[in-house]
Amino acid sequence: MTSPVYAVTAAVLNSRKYQAIAPELVEAIAAAELGKGRSPKEAVKATKNQLHQSAAVYQSGRMEYPRWLADLQDAWPDGAARQPLLRRLLTAHTSTSERLPFLDDFYNRIFALLPPIRSVLDIACGLNPLALPWIPLVADASYLAVDIFSDQIAFLNDFFRLAGVSGRGETRNVLTDCPTEPVDLALILKTIPCLEQIEKEAGAKLLGQIQAHHLVVSFPSRTLGGRRKGMESTYAAHFAELTEGWDATITRLDFANEMVFVVERGDGSEGGSVSAG
Ligand SMILES: C[S@@+](CC[C@H](N)C(=O)[O-])C[C@H]1O[C@@H](n2cnc3c(N)ncnc32)[C@H](O)[C@@H]1O
Repeated sequence: MTSPVYAVTAAVLNSRKYQAIAPELVEAIAAAELGKGRSPKEAVKATKNQLHQSAAVYQSGRMEYPRWLADLQDAWPDGAARQPLLRRLLTAHTSTSERLPFLDDFYNRIFALLPPIRSVLDIACGLNPLALPWIPLVADASYLAVDIFSDQIAFLNDFFRLAGVSGRGETRNVLTDCPTEPVDLALILKTIPCLEQIEKEAGAKLLGQIQAHHLVVSFPSRTLGGRRKGMESTYAAHFAELTEGWDATITRLDFANEMVFVVERGDGSEGGSVSAG
């Protein structure tokens, strides 16, 4: 007989919108929803709803990876055509689309606060690796990008190969399978609130597991609809809570719709400070 968790997981993975999501995440959410006493039908609906709110909602339309790869292969030989195409592709994910108006400024201001960066971990990356031409890393820096959509990760791996970047994408549920190899810099952009929708302690757990000397952690300061709704003060207080007692220097940078914390970790002793950049 099929177990209810298996049946709910299979039903969710059977729909086109969720078919590429890491099955272990779907299964974990399905088990939690059934554990609340929901019927299998209700659990399918609730699992889809969780996956929509924490991931699929950011995909602004059909993700046309084969066509986008073909467009990239056509454009790549002409250096001048690359950035306009990448900008167009970055609009397909709401998180990077919202960042486009200030993309140059974003990475310039952040990297002005950092030493030379040779290795990056991009947690719950979305399409952010397509912004690599705007990210001032040292030559031959390594880039590990993780997210839960296997088709998006396959596309990013094709992009890394085409661009000659020493990059690697991995389909991973960071709630249970967060990379822990040491890196110079971890990017955790607009991700903590999404993960905390699924697991309340996800932000604290993630920050405790990642092995990076520098962290760039950001939060949206407006809703997807563009309203402010006190998000800045709520998330600033939450981040202060998450980093309480850290030995770290933390600099806050504000952009039109995103609040960024650049964190330099100290040697492990207590204390630290926050300043405005
Ligand atoms: C708000 S978007 C941020 C994307 C990217 N960091 C950026 O700022 O451009 C949240 C991302 O988290 C990913 N995500 C959600 N749950 C995840 C999980 N459990 N493990 C890994 N990635 C996850 C989603 O697929 C989505 O790409």
